[in-house]
Parts: sequence; structure tokens; C-alpha cells
Amino acid sequence: MDLPVIDLSHYLAADAAASDSQLGDRRLGELCAEVSRTLRETGALLVKDPRCSAEDNDRFIDMMEKYFECPSEFKLLQERPHLHYQVGVTPEGVEVPRSLVDEEMQEKLRAMPEQFQPSLPKGPDCKWRYMWRVGPRPSNTRFKELNSEPVIPEGFPQWKEAMDSWGYKMISAIETVAEMAAIGFGLPKDAFTSLMKQGPHLLGPTGSDLQHYGQEGRVFAGYHYDLNFLTIHGRSRFPGLNIWLRNGQKVEVKVPVGCLLIQTGKQIEWLTAGDCTAGMHEVVVTNRTMDAIRQASKQNRSLWRVSSTLFAHIASDAVLKSLGHFAESPDASKYPPICAGEFVEQELSVINLKGNNGKP
Ligand SMILES: [Fe+2]
Repeated sequence: MDLPVIDLSHYLAADAAASDSQLGDRRLGELCAEVSRTLRETGALLVKDPRCSAEDNDRFIDMMEKYFECPSEFKLLQERPHLHYQVGVTPEGVEVPRSLVDEEMQEKLRAMPEQFQPSLPKGPDCKWRYMWRVGPRPSNTRFKELNSEPVIPEGFPQWKEAMDSWGYKMISAIETVAEMAAIGFGLPKDAFTSLMKQGPHLLGPTGSDLQHYGQEGRVFAGYHYDLNFLTIHGRSRFPGLNIWLRNGQKVEVKVPVGCLLIQTGKQIEWLTAGDCTAGMHEVVVTNRTMDAIRQASKQNRSLWRVSSTLFAHIASDAVLKSLGHFAESPDASKYPPICAGEFVEQELSVINLKGNNGKP
């Protein structure tokens, strides 16, 4: 199954004209309905954003490949375990996939038809990650530790500019999708984006060493959902992402060149009282990954699989609760109001074995 690609240009042009009559036109209404429907049915969405080109994604991945190729001793200088890995580097072997520790989830996995079962990880994820906060932070918040200062590695003069520029582009794309989804769900256009202001958005690119771990079946990110609002990434140079649709079907995601992939997190599930659930996913070395590894080796390219991921969050001090008509849904009681910062802390305490690592 190929996911549809939504071109954001039409919505952006109408939005720039700031005309409500244009935003209310039938074609845009249908496009917004397609966005909310796809998020609901698949937990994912492919978009094309004219503000974010394939070249932007390439520049970002080039820099991250160079960073992840550095020796471990160098990268560990950017490790901040006392800040719960919320900023700087998280080495491989630290992040723990939920499917490894959540018994309720393990039971559900065993009940799945065999062909849709995820690869069961045997230990922590074997991938590195770099955490970089993007966007303004609140001056007054109850959740200080989720809002720590950034870490910049030596020898990368372009680091701050590259991280911020990619991060802001990703947030802009998410904001546009969040507006379109809100309209599609029958909510005010700013229902989600007003809650995202000053949120602890995290750029969290990962680096997986395919030279060492490039064997078919190797799990880079075990079956899990993201605890944030929406997650976005550019196209990776190595395939391997599997997602699970609402109907339980497992699908290998193919991101076309120049497109971005968005995935639903637990916070959008809360805000829609489960109408849109958090998308389950995993990253595993598949036969397509093996093909890409062979191709990259032949061309002498980097064998680090980089994901250019940004986790968009609801602001820590905002309250997660069923919005608008979703408050009347029979499932609303399963999603009691909770401060987003408190929700994140609760979720993190489940998935980590070594103090609060910052993985959404
Ligand atoms: Fe994830």
C-alpha cells in the first residue's frame, strides 16, 4: 500500500491570501479531510512542502553523517546523562523500546497475525541520537528539565545554523499539517497549533551504524509509539521503517524523494479522544536496506543511516484534553485532562531503564 502524498502548496497559498472564504473552499476542505482521514487510518502522512526541498534534507543528512562517523570518544563529549539525555548525544544501547518493557504491549504483539508481527528487540536500540531543542522556550514553566540549554560539538561551525534551519522548516511543515488536520477533524484551524506554542520541540536525528549492524533483521528502533504530538522526518538514505495501520496491517514505508513523512504521536490521540491513535512503528534492516547498503558501499558513501527526525510537542504547561466535539466521544473518559509536561514525564518513566532518557 502506498500512502498518498499531500502537497501543502495549495493550502499555503490560500492561507497566505488570509482569506477565510478561500480556506473554506471545497477543494481545500477535501484536502484537509484527506489529511485527517489519512492520519486516522494510517497514523502517518506523506507531504510535499515547497519550503523544504530535497537539497535541504541532503545538507542536513550530510552534516549528521559526518558527525556520527566521528569516534565514540568524541561523541561522548556531547553526552548529558544528568540532563536525562534531553540535549546532546544519546549513545547506542541507551534507548529502550517500549515493546521490551511493556508487558501489556507484548501480549498484544503475540496476538497479532504472524505476518504483521514486529521484530522483537532483545535489548536497547542500537542507534545513536542527537537531541537539539528547537524554537522559543517559556520563561516561566513548571517543567524546567524538559527545557535545557543546547550542546554544540567542536569542529562543526555550521551546527547551530544547520540544526535550527532544518528544525524550523520541520516545525513549519508540522504546523501547516496540524492546521489542516484540525479543519479536517471539524475543529477550529488553530485548535492544535495554539497548544504547540513554546512547546519543547526536539530535533532528534538518529545515526545507525550499518557497517557494524547492517544484517537483515537487526532492530534499530523496536516497535513503539511516539509520546509527542506529531513526528516528522525527511527521506532517509536507507529504507527500513515499518508502520502499522489502524486495521493492524504492517506496511513498509516508501518516502518519495523530496517528501516528508509525518507520524501521529500519543498527544494527538489524547486531544482527539482516540479518534486518531498514536502510530506504531519500528526501524529494522530489511532486504531493501541491504540493497541500499550494497549500493552505498559501491559508491563509497557513508554507511550511517541518518534520520532527520523532529518531535513536535504540545507546550509542557498546556493541558492535554479531548478538544471540541471529541469531548462528547464515548472514549473521552479514557483520556482524562493532564498537563502535557506531566504526561511526558509519566511516559518517559515507563520506557527507560537508566533514568529519564529523552526519547519521545
Ligand atoms: Fe518513533
